[in-house]
Amino acid sequence: MSVLLFFCTCLFLFSKSSIANDIMVRNEYLTVNKTLVSSGQTFELGFFSTNNTKNLYLGIWYKNITPTTVVWVANRNHPLTDSAGGFTIADDGNIIVLNGSKIIWSSNLTRSVSNPVVQLLQSGNLVLKDESLNDASSYLWQSFDHPTNTGLPGMKFGWDLKLGLNRYFTSWKNINDPSIGNYSYGAELAGLPQFVLRDGLVKKHRSGVWNGIRLTGVHLRPNENFNTTFVINTDEVYATFTNKGSDPSFIVRESLNEWGKLQRFVWDEQSMKWIDMSVFPRDDCDNYNHCGVNGICNIAISPPCECLRGFTPISQQQWSIFNWTGGCVRKTSLECGSDIFVQIKGLKLPDMVNFLVNKSMSLEECKNECKRNCSCTAYANSDIREGGSGCILWFDDLFDFRYLSDASDDQVLFLRLASSEGEPILEKAKKKSSEGKPILEKAKKKKNEVLMKVLLPVGSAVLFICLLIYLVIRKTRRMDGVLNAGERQKEHLELPLFDLMTVETATNNFSHTNKIGEGGYGPVYKGKTSEGQEIAVKWLSKDSGQGNTQFKNEVVLIAKLQHRNLVKLLGCCIQGEERILIYEYMPNASLDYFVFDQKQSKLLDWQKRLSIVMGIAKGLLYLHQDSSLRIVHRDLKASNILLDWNMNPKISDFGMARLLGGEQTEAKTEKLAGTYGYMSPEYAVDGHFSVKSDVFSFGVLVLEIISGKRNRGFYHDNHHHNLLGHAWILWNEGNPCELMEPGLGDSNSATSLEVLRCIQVGLLCVQKLPEDRPSMSDVFFMLSSENSLLLEPKEPGFFVERGLDDHTNSYPRNSENQVTISLEAR
Ligand SMILES: *[C@@H]1O[C@H](CO)[C@@H](O)[C@H](O)[C@H]1NC(C)=O
Ligand SMILES: *[C@@H]1O[C@H](CO)[C@@H](O)[C@H](O)[C@H]1NC(C)=O
Ligand SMILES: *[C@@H]1O[C@H](CO)[C@@H](O)[C@H](O)[C@H]1NC(C)=O
Ligand SMILES: *[C@@H]1O[C@H](CO)[C@@H](O)[C@H](O)[C@H]1NC(C)=O
Ligand SMILES: *[C@@H]1O[C@H](CO)[C@@H](O)[C@H](O)[C@H]1NC(C)=O
Ligand SMILES: *[C@@H]1O[C@H](CO)[C@@H](O)[C@H](O)[C@H]1NC(C)=O
Ligand SMILES: *[C@@H]1O[C@H](CO)[C@@H](O)[C@H](O)[C@H]1NC(C)=O
Ligand SMILES: *[C@@H]1O[C@H](CO)[C@@H](O)[C@H](O)[C@H]1NC(C)=O
Ligand SMILES: *[C@@H]1O[C@H](CO)[C@@H](O)[C@H](O)[C@H]1NC(C)=O
Repeated sequence: MSVLLFFCTCLFLFSKSSIANDIMVRNEYLTVNKTLVSSGQTFELGFFSTNNTKNLYLGIWYKNITPTTVVWVANRNHPLTDSAGGFTIADDGNIIVLNGSKIIWSSNLTRSVSNPVVQLLQSGNLVLKDESLNDASSYLWQSFDHPTNTGLPGMKFGWDLKLGLNRYFTSWKNINDPSIGNYSYGAELAGLPQFVLRDGLVKKHRSGVWNGIRLTGVHLRPNENFNTTFVINTDEVYATFTNKGSDPSFIVRESLNEWGKLQRFVWDEQSMKWIDMSVFPRDDCDNYNHCGVNGICNIAISPPCECLRGFTPISQQQWSIFNWTGGCVRKTSLECGSDIFVQIKGLKLPDMVNFLVNKSMSLEECKNECKRNCSCTAYANSDIREGGSGCILWFDDLFDFRYLSDASDDQVLFLRLASSEGEPILEKAKKKSSEGKPILEKAKKKKNEVLMKVLLPVGSAVLFICLLIYLVIRKTRRMDGVLNAGERQKEHLELPLFDLMTVETATNNFSHTNKIGEGGYGPVYKGKTSEGQEIAVKWLSKDSGQGNTQFKNEVVLIAKLQHRNLVKLLGCCIQGEERILIYEYMPNASLDYFVFDQKQSKLLDWQKRLSIVMGIAKGLLYLHQDSSLRIVHRDLKASNILLDWNMNPKISDFGMARLLGGEQTEAKTEKLAGTYGYMSPEYAVDGHFSVKSDVFSFGVLVLEIISGKRNRGFYHDNHHHNLLGHAWILWNEGNPCELMEPGLGDSNSATSLEVLRCIQVGLLCVQKLPEDRPSMSDVFFMLSSENSLLLEPKEPGFFVERGLDDHTNSYPRNSENQVTISLEAR
């Protein structure tokens, strides 16, 4: 805004007296000190000059708005320097600007006109027409067809294909110079229409192609201030907008500024200011090809770049220092004939670089066409209306991909991968080592024969259970229809089972050096498959308390869940009494390692923390309502949040998770499971669990992430409260931001507003009564929308450490704070 105001104050209007009306006829002459005013007094046409120059430009501005806001300039590249100049209709009927007697600008009409008049319409459109004709189709020339940097309601922005006319914006050179600057924004028609913002010839940002319903890269919510419509037919391709109720007193405009930003403004009569309604580009992911070829940008994570599935950074080293320009290459090269296609949803379609569009093909034909040509890398419907039709094929590298958090799932892209990329890597390992051989046979050969004999019956029983699990998963997966194209092709095993040997080899015989942690139920090892994929192996110890039920529970649940903020289960291994789970490996360990460690916590600045909070919220929201199941995690805590190499958080450890039936929102357990410090009062005391008990744990986690302190074991000189209590005290004292870990982020106002919002959301989540706590979708909304109003939090549950003890003296206190407990309730 300040920039804009500055810009406006730099303009001087040369003249003050206006010709009484909005029309000029032949032989009339507009000297530099006269103006035309539209009939409703909204717009004014005349000469203006910029800050420290004597240059004069013929332009249109709002008559009653100060500072002056110019919406159109005629002679932008050829300023008038002689105040003896002016504006008139030439003998041939053209509108001209004269510098002395020299024509420096002309409407360049080739048609001759008998009774030309020039009129400044109430819309801000300057038109040249025959005196006797009034409808728009009779205009011989109009300024709306030659926009400069500003769009007004009713203006068509795009192509008239019959006239070959392209209406697009070009920026001013700088705030004092309206001549053509570096940036342009306009409709481009290659393949499918889209709007592209360029710096010179270089693409900077694009809207994404039109898919029949919307531009795939901008998710425009209906906005009555800017009611935008797209018109696409054989004659025309354009966007246009109307203002609220088409009311001329409601003033809106869009403009491409000198720095290449496209902004939409509404004039606020009260504050006498332009209010900035939207801006494009919105974020880094709008930068063209931000993550390089075959990369995908996701603003919800930080840093935002990832490689497409089946791809890996061309230079891991450059990638790790956030230089993504090289993009990604395939891990496994295509085999052509046997390749598969996997679905990707919720995205902006890649740019039209090497492509083919055929609007009469079906999706099946599209797929076959793509399959046939080995350089075809992806395909999609070109129009998603009515179930989808038409075909886009992309060849070679894919450019400018991004996820859109708010995109609906109807836009699907099918990405070509080598068939081996479609299956979990560990399955391949399994197939290789011991296909067909009974697991026990192999193990028997290995070492402890005597022991194995004893375990044999047990082993068979467990094997049977694993088979059952496999069948259940197979069935449920079918029902969900979550299989992607690749998986669907394969008829065989869908839950990878491993034999112990494979796992042993991968983990170097569970060597001590491979041990990366000790979960609630046993040690976790890092491993590497013969294919080179890094895995995490969780060995559930026999005395872990996690029995078969929990094991089955975790496997069945997690195998069904697919979300970027949930850790992915790759397979399981059952051998004798040993039960082993194999996960994707998370190189950055767990959140507690960073947040609660004085040194490591320096690596997490505020933006990273915020993106971690958002990621956890998304994962939990998915568990609670977006997956086809309704799952309560029951053991959400910092050590169960794992971080990938991007510091993207993934919720792990589903051993305690419970499924709630369709409408069911809460349940009661005989077995109390969870972790002190994160358990909600109703759960710890009465064993009632619900999505709201997870919300409580989430709230604790948020406050821990902000403060860098554990809820349990929190110590303060002045009181005996835990972290929740401390946050509550600070909140009531009006100093909530003191909760923030010292040195975390500079105290600029944008950051402190975000911190404040997070603290408030955290406190809302840890309120004593479950019904007071927001749902995860509320939480997500509150965190992601700066404008949402937040309720005043009520007193948290368990804010006095003693409070827990009062209720739990019958539970043996676990010596280690953060270890999950699993105990019979009273
Ligand atoms: C406008 O300009 C004309 C010609 O330059 C001059 O004769 C006239 O006095 C000016 N009028 C005003 C109000 O400045
Ligand atoms: C424009 O003029 C104002 C006041 O006359 C001056 O303060 C400002 O520095 C000028 N800006 C530019 C960019 O010339
Ligand atoms: C306008 O005329 C002046 C002399 O009156 C001349 O110096 C200037 O270059 C002319 N400007 C253009 C754009 O022709
Ligand atoms: C009119 O034509 C001249 C000469 O071809 C060109 O320099 C000028 O830019 C044109 N003016 C407009 C407004 O298109
Ligand atoms: C426009 O491009 C020129 C040349 O590339 C550059 O020097 C100038 O800084 C750019 N201006 C803006 C506003 O980006
Ligand atoms: C947008 O305009 C269309 C007609 O052009 C109208 O039907 C629709 O209700 C308007 N939408 C809003 C949000 O004003
Ligand atoms: C970024 O990486 C690419 C290759 O991936 C390399 O060519 C380029 O020089 C790197 N840029 C910088 C600034 O290091
Ligand atoms: C588009 O696809 C249809 C059906 O496969 C085919 O008949 C037609 O020739 C294709 N058009 C072009 C331009 O390739
Ligand atoms: C595959 O498609 C590309 C792009 O249309 C084309 O250049 C190439 O010749 C095609 N290859 C085959 C084998 O059809």
